[in-house]
Amino acid sequence: MNKQILMLAAMAALAAGCAGNDITRTVDGAIDKAAAQALLMAEKYAPQDSLLPKTFENGKDVSSDSRWWCSGFFPGELWYLYEDRGGAALLSYAKEFTARVEREKFTTDNHDVGFILNCSFGNGWRLTGDSTYAAVLVQGAKSLATRFNPKLGVIRSWDGHPEWQYPVIIDNMMNLELLMEASEITGDSTFRAMAISHADKTMKWHFRPDYSSWHVVSYDTLTCVPEKRQTHQGCSDESAWSRGQSWGLYGFTAMYRWTGFKRYLTQAVSIADFLIGNTDMPSDGIPYWDFDCPDIPNTPRDASAAAIMASALVELSDFVDGGRSEKYLSFAEKQLKRLASDQYTAKLGENGCFILKHSVGAFPLNSEVDVPLTYADYYYVEALTRLKKKLNKR
Ligand code: GLY
Repeated sequence: MNKQILMLAAMAALAAGCAGNDITRTVDGAIDKAAAQALLMAEKYAPQDSLLPKTFENGKDVSSDSRWWCSGFFPGELWYLYEDRGGAALLSYAKEFTARVEREKFTTDNHDVGFILNCSFGNGWRLTGDSTYAAVLVQGAKSLATRFNPKLGVIRSWDGHPEWQYPVIIDNMMNLELLMEASEITGDSTFRAMAISHADKTMKWHFRPDYSSWHVVSYDTLTCVPEKRQTHQGCSDESAWSRGQSWGLYGFTAMYRWTGFKRYLTQAVSIADFLIGNTDMPSDGIPYWDFDCPDIPNTPRDASAAAIMASALVELSDFVDGGRSEKYLSFAEKQLKRLASDQYTAKLGENGCFILKHSVGAFPLNSEVDVPLTYADYYYVEALTRLKKKLNKR
């Protein structure tokens, strides 16, 4: 090899080393800040029996009990932070806030039991091996399974919407891990079969040719095909609601991890490419709340959609080769760097002790617009810790 090539190789290695150190520093600093902020949140909520953080609006804390679909995110965030740094305080708070959502194992009136229990008890089970946690997950999966209709092959998301015969939202992909986990724990493949059926139907009916997804698909219970494809939280029925796109990306990536089925990987890759290549994706990688909002750029960004997407991309980058892997990882790193900046990360003790600012819950309902949200924080911390593990292996 000639001298010049050796020199260029050495310079490239040096540059890669610097870039690596740069992202390592960002990730370490971001986790430090997240842990400090989460401990403040835990101290604030510890005396508030059975309550969990929801958001912070107009200078006031907004909390919920375990019934709210987001109740498992704060306990889950504490588990990730405990996993990263250990310590008695994080462990004790993770256990305490996890216990607050246990009663949701009997929830059968919506699909969110998957979100609630997998983030809290699922991470607790993964990190402690405590069999009482596994039992909660199995009971939760049994509750979720009551919502599976074998004729349609999907889990019903919501009740109480007479306009839809059998509504399934793209978000429901996120509840499948609870079923997969329950099959692994019990050896009973019924839960797994339901999850696979749901994912297959979602792949078939929820996606447009460009791999964007509808938010709500309502099935005709007689013909078993969609009767309506609409939105609830997006800009219009035909728009690409940003968080929904992230749920789909994350859900199919996770289903590939659980099954090894190539079709789920292909689906996740197609969604990732739709998102990364979207002309309305801002250059910093933090999407507006809907890719098709006519008010872009004068409409809020959604940090939660970015955090979910970043976490999924870090995982997906492990499942694909070469250039594609690099593309996904560098996009996720860009998103995380931006989220870790002062623009999105709150100062210690501010923002109601949430880590991130600027998420959007449901813009058309004028609910939780440009506020902190527990799931933005959860997936941000998950993404950071996933990336840190990956960087440590290099
Ligand atoms: N699963 C509800 C939402 O993403 O807002």
